[in-house]
Amino acid sequence: MSSKKIVVLISGSGSNLQALMDKLHKQQINNQHVEIVAVISNKADAYGLERAREANIPAILVASKGVASRDQYDALLAAELEQLQPDLILLAGFMRILTSGFVNQYQGKMLNIHPSLLPKYPGVNTHQRAIDAGDEAHGATVHFVTPELDSGPTVLQAKVPVFAEDTAQDLADRVLTQEHQIYALAASWFVGDRLKMQGQFAYLDGKQLEQFGYAAD
Ligand code: GRF
Repeated sequence: MSSKKIVVLISGSGSNLQALMDKLHKQQINNQHVEIVAVISNKADAYGLERAREANIPAILVASKGVASRDQYDALLAAELEQLQPDLILLAGFMRILTSGFVNQYQGKMLNIHPSLLPKYPGVNTHQRAIDAGDEAHGATVHFVTPELDSGPTVLQAKVPVFAEDTAQDLADRVLTQEHQIYALAASWFVGDRLKMQGQFAYLDGKQLEQFGYAAD
């Protein structure tokens, strides 16, 4: 049996990280032994670092505070990753924009979860923006990371309803529950050698995924 190494990048609470640890760490997926080999945070007080320690996974701080430029920060991050040699990098609430040089180095090996139905609402405050627009549906997207923010090929989306009385927090909670499901599923496809990025498209089991990612019949 061969093995697959995952590194998860976080900035905060790490509830997605928790779901990934619960569902993937030390599991056998498609004849691969999967390990989350490290969790890296740019913030010292990210609760996700605590979650990693509790699971006996190395918790690494690569602090962004005091680092002068994006290039410098990304060089520090790349140096850590060079040691770890991950097969897959998962951005899970990692609240930093990465330079295109960094992204290009790991393109096809890096996934992100974004709390909207991309291409709607890249960037921040997605839940309030969906409410303000009067949307009836909102959700989350797992996508490959490419240099342009929140815009790489979509792998999988989950939709939730928006109710008239929803606050942004209500909606965030509803979306987050779905994030935990779809992120672990998409990551399991990747480490199980079923999901790939080629050119500007994502492929699952050799079949090109459409604009909104995998859609069950
Ligand atoms: C999630 O909504 C994720 O989509 C967004 O930031 C939030 C992180 O939550 N990028 P958590 O740290 O995983 O709890």
